[in-house]
Amino acid sequence: MGMFWSKKSSSGEKPTGNGQELSGNGVTPAQVLAALSKVKDPDLHRDLVSLNFIKDLSVEGSKVSFTIELTTPACPVKARLESEARNAVMAIPGVTEVDVKMTSRVQSAGFGDHLPVPGVKNIIAVGSGKGGVGKSTVAVNLAVALAECGASVGLMDADIYGPSLAMMMGVSSKDLPPSYGKKMIPPVRYGVKLISLGFLLPDTSTPVVWRGPMVGKAVDQLLTDVEWGELDYLIVDLPPGTGDAQLSLAQKVAVSGAVVVTTPQDVALLDVIKAINMFKKVNIPVLGIIENMSYLECPHCHERIDLFKHGGGRRASQQYGIPFLGEISLNPDIPIGGDQGIPIIKSHPDSQQARQFMEIAKAMAAQLSMVNYEKSMLKIIN
Ligand SMILES: Nc1ncnc2c1ncn2[C@@H]1O[C@H](COP(=O)(O)OP(=O)(O)OP(=O)(O)O)[C@@H](O)[C@H]1O
Ligand SMILES: [Mg+2]
Repeated sequence: MGMFWSKKSSSGEKPTGNGQELSGNGVTPAQVLAALSKVKDPDLHRDLVSLNFIKDLSVEGSKVSFTIELTTPACPVKARLESEARNAVMAIPGVTEVDVKMTSRVQSAGFGDHLPVPGVKNIIAVGSGKGGVGKSTVAVNLAVALAECGASVGLMDADIYGPSLAMMMGVSSKDLPPSYGKKMIPPVRYGVKLISLGFLLPDTSTPVVWRGPMVGKAVDQLLTDVEWGELDYLIVDLPPGTGDAQLSLAQKVAVSGAVVVTTPQDVALLDVIKAINMFKKVNIPVLGIIENMSYLECPHCHERIDLFKHGGGRRASQQYGIPFLGEISLNPDIPIGGDQGIPIIKSHPDSQQARQFMEIAKAMAAQLSMVNYEKSMLKIIN
């Protein structure tokens, strides 16, 4: 373990680094670490000290300060960990003040220094067994939600059948990089860097049979010829369905994890299973299922109206042992915002659906952290 804490004292002596020495009133860094090693990350099932989350620990008289470095800025239990850590240290006799800083450093999927796409730590595919379930809506809102949490995020539209993300993000042809010279610079909207197959392929009126063969090449180009910079997450909107095009795309993009979007009907359930199997076939971990258009909230009495048979996504998740990341209810502002290029998380941040998207984004980030953590553990063992 490196020397990640320092002990300052009024006499100005240098920190010794053994953690045992008493400071003015008896509080030691070792005591602080012992207290923090009782605080567990509920997702990773290990304590903050052995996870190496505690940085810059310093004890100055009765005042303790440290930083907790999480694996994602979109951590669903950030506030809880902060207060548990603070309380644990506060309980040490002699401590009068605790200063906790929260930061994060997103880990990659265990590729080490060799990231499949330079600078991009994680690629998350958004798939669905069938079209029209709200996959693109989910991709857009999750990307913006992660960016709002402070992550650096890219969004890639890989839907050959009808790239729609540019429109949904309010990016028009005048926002595109002036030329596709050596490297494309993605336009940034709502804090998200956006690239679309639509920027490369001939216009969407070209039949898909013609566009199909161009896709492999275009996807390569999108990944390698785009100046993504440093990205924590690159969200990829895959075409709907589970055909060869989807499979080859999923393989080409060296995906860290996938989410599957569905609607609550039973018929949709069969398609979810197909999508899950597709990702399994190419060894992409499925981070979870998202159920969209789950229900309608009565605008007057706020009662929940299940338009479709309810709970399909949750049932599929139980059946397949895959996390259920959450549901998004129906809201007419979603299609309106889609046409206007403003995702609901921006146009109506206080809406129920914006909150649902934010929670799902955090749950997804947490799942990815777990997958990456497990991979890193396996690497140490092997
Ligand atoms: N929760 C929701 N409430 C109301 N409308 C929604 C919701 N989610 C999506 N929609 C609308 O449903 C339509 C389909 O959504 P979207 O385009 O995101 O689906 P998709 O699965 O990407 O479709 P495609 O298969 O065509 O790519 C859009 O008009 C969108 O605005
Ligand atoms: Mg779509």
